[in-house]
Amino acid sequence: MPPCWCESRKKSELPRAAPHPGKRRPSLQRRLRHLSGRMVQVKRICCIGAGYVGGPTCSVIAQMCPGLMVTVVDVNEDRIRAWNSDSLPIFEPGLQEVVESCRGVNLFFSTDIDSAIQDADLVFISVNTPTKTFGIGKGRAADLKYIEACARRIADVSTGCKIVVEKSTVPVRAAESIRRIFNANTKSTLSFQVLSNPEFLAEGTAISDLKNPDRVLIGGDESPEGQCAIEALRDIYEHWVPKDKIITTNTWSSELSKLAANAFLAQRISSINSISALCEVTGADVEEVAHAIGTDQRIGSRFLKASVGFGGSCFQKDVLNLVYLCEALNLPEVARYWQQVIEINDYQRQRFSSRIIGCLFNTVTDKKIALLGFAFKKNTGDTRESSSIYISRYLMDEGARLHIYDPKVKKGQIIQDLSQPTLSHGDDTQRVSQLVTIATDPYSACENAHAIVICTEWDMFKELDYERIYKAMLKPAFIFDGRRILDSLHDQLQHIGFQVETIGKRVSQRIPFTGSNEISKPEQLLPSKKLKQ
Ligand code: UDX
Ligand code: UDX
Repeated sequence: MPPCWCESRKKSELPRAAPHPGKRRPSLQRRLRHLSGRMVQVKRICCIGAGYVGGPTCSVIAQMCPGLMVTVVDVNEDRIRAWNSDSLPIFEPGLQEVVESCRGVNLFFSTDIDSAIQDADLVFISVNTPTKTFGIGKGRAADLKYIEACARRIADVSTGCKIVVEKSTVPVRAAESIRRIFNANTKSTLSFQVLSNPEFLAEGTAISDLKNPDRVLIGGDESPEGQCAIEALRDIYEHWVPKDKIITTNTWSSELSKLAANAFLAQRISSINSISALCEVTGADVEEVAHAIGTDQRIGSRFLKASVGFGGSCFQKDVLNLVYLCEALNLPEVARYWQQVIEINDYQRQRFSSRIIGCLFNTVTDKKIALLGFAFKKNTGDTRESSSIYISRYLMDEGARLHIYDPKVKKGQIIQDLSQPTLSHGDDTQRVSQLVTIATDPYSACENAHAIVICTEWDMFKELDYERIYKAMLKPAFIFDGRRILDSLHDQLQHIGFQVETIGKRVSQRIPFTGSNEISKPEQLLPSKKLKQ
């Protein structure tokens, strides 16, 4: 048998196996077989997937653990080339400095996946798990084809003992599937432990989230070998994370905790967004309501910012995944409860778009609209599931001419996102080329526009010269603040002459001919409906 992370550990150092509910503890003799010698620490790490999760996570691990060799691999050659260049493939504040501090020393980016796996004691799987677009579970279930491909590849090229860590967010019991693939492909020279170690970083704050996490969660098998693997991963995090912030659980709790955490966060946003609709018709102000309820320590103040709706690669995907899981496990009431979080998010996007159309005298056909912000939140160039995509589509369906500006999203990405075929439209490429212009600065986007629509809360949008912008716009000039970033400027903007519309508050007196809340065919456009089987 090859030397293992577990076999060579001192008896006294090993944790006791947690009791197996409903199972007998492994015989003392079997346990003792693994409890001899000294612990071998993980020295080499491989991370499969150099994306928003794998790249920053492993860069911080390399910086915090100079004694570890960390290799991040990816099938995408362009991405790896970018990681090895001065122009990293993702924008994340502080990331460049972290990468530059250890790249070429103990941090490497490579496309040689097999060698990196072979050399590693521990392999993170950080590949994407998109929502299925076809077949059973279409529109809701996570597609695990990349995870499975990784597991098969690891089994194929490995020798010796390895700890395989699920970093990607996966449905509950995915680790079990990985284990089964390993068990079915085991050679005599091979031994694996599978852990779940979900990542909780948020884009835009990834580096500080990674360096000062609220917690690190590690789930593993309750056997002595599983506990050894947990300890080996814990040792890595203990280089910079306080012991009491490292939580260990069984594998399934860890997997479910990640889905549940994202569902709870998404639910808070849908809750405050539902209240924003009420505010707009009652004269209340959602910011004041959020402050008032958030000061209750039991509720807390974070994640209560009303908006155009949440975006990003995780919330919608993970809530839909939870819904699918509940349905599959015959828990329809629970499934319906979480589905509402998505419905309200769709409703918020649609409501905001309807308001723009309603205020612009019920038609935006051939009107120029400046859309400021395309990323799903500030401080990232990521556009996955961004509300800007949905709002752009609603407005394009009404024939609006969009001039889009975002400080970090590239033109090609915006065109690609808007050209994706939907169920309500076929290929949108031609329509996009007719209706969409990508602006290189916010002022040209706003010139001769009827309205400005703020979709992302970039700080620079608070500092624009609105007098200059107003002069260059058609009158009446509207601002729709989908992020509540201009609150402190409302008086000033109205004084300049703008009609100001925002989420969860009535600012300007409505001018006549407004009031319609209907836009054409909203049912066809709702993303969750669109995706349902
Ligand atoms: C994330 C997370 O890992 C997951 O938890 C979350 O739910 C959504 O996706 P992220 O890093 O944001 O991943 O995704 P992405 O930026 O798409 O990166 C994944 C990388 O894996 C890509 O660069 C892709 O090329 C790579 N990949 C994918 C492989 O190297 N091999 C594969 O087989 C599949
Ligand atoms: C989220 C989770 O926060 C993170 O823990 C997990 O690992 C991945 O998913 P992320 O999607 O990167 O992170 O960003 P997050 O800050 O959570 O924002 C998600 C979306 O919600 C954004 O569109 C954001 O603008 C929106 N949002 C957030 C609101 O509309 N209101 C809020 O109060 C907070």
